[in-house]
Amino acid sequence: MSILFGPSLLSADFSRLEEEIRQVERGGADFLHLDVMDGHFVPNITFGPMIVEAIRKLTSLPLDVHLMIAQPDRYWMQFKAAGADWISLHVEAGVTPELISEMRREVKTGIAINPNTPLEAVEPYIEGVDFVLVMTVNPGFGGQRFISTPLQKVKELSQRGVKVEVDGGINEETIHHVLEAGASLIVSGSSVFKRGNPYARTVLLKSIIQEFEASRGG
Ligand code: DX5
Ligand code: ZN
Repeated sequence: MSILFGPSLLSADFSRLEEEIRQVERGGADFLHLDVMDGHFVPNITFGPMIVEAIRKLTSLPLDVHLMIAQPDRYWMQFKAAGADWISLHVEAGVTPELISEMRREVKTGIAINPNTPLEAVEPYIEGVDFVLVMTVNPGFGGQRFISTPLQKVKELSQRGVKVEVDGGINEETIHHVLEAGASLIVSGSSVFKRGNPYARTVLLKSIIQEFEASRGG
């Protein structure tokens, strides 16, 4: 199974969102990562289902909706209706196995875990989800520095055959550690959209992934 790359639109210029999306599409983005924040679970507010619906009309790439919100049980279906292909919710936001199985009947479901939360917290859900989203920054803002300690969780999960998404502080340097740890889905925001041409930045990060895969013989 190949490793997929998803630019995080949090760092895109929303006044020219369509153009930004076209650039990362041309650069070979495999999916788009959409960060939903409520100013409560995290100290920042971004956007809700209306914007996800608008983005849905702009692209056929899978939309990976990362819910950094309290009470995800009340809102996840609005994001599904807006066109989300994958939805992840935080274990720290309060989830139950029932919620996960309800979601999974409708949408690819991930469980997200903060850098300081131990792996044991997601253990009851791992069997029931499509992937685990391991955060390598504290959620809330783009452009933060990569935290390497969660890589241990990525390693352990991927060795067990669990599909792992990694999000936060990933650039052309830190991505090597993320690949080595066994990530299957890789998200990058500011490194794609705040370092010049998003097309060229996507090409660069994708080429690192492809080289890694080639070196692994696949
Ligand atoms: C952080 C978000 C991330 C963020 C990544 O709360 O969940 O998806 O957009 O951005 P960078 O790559 O700049 O850390
Ligand atoms: Zn995210």
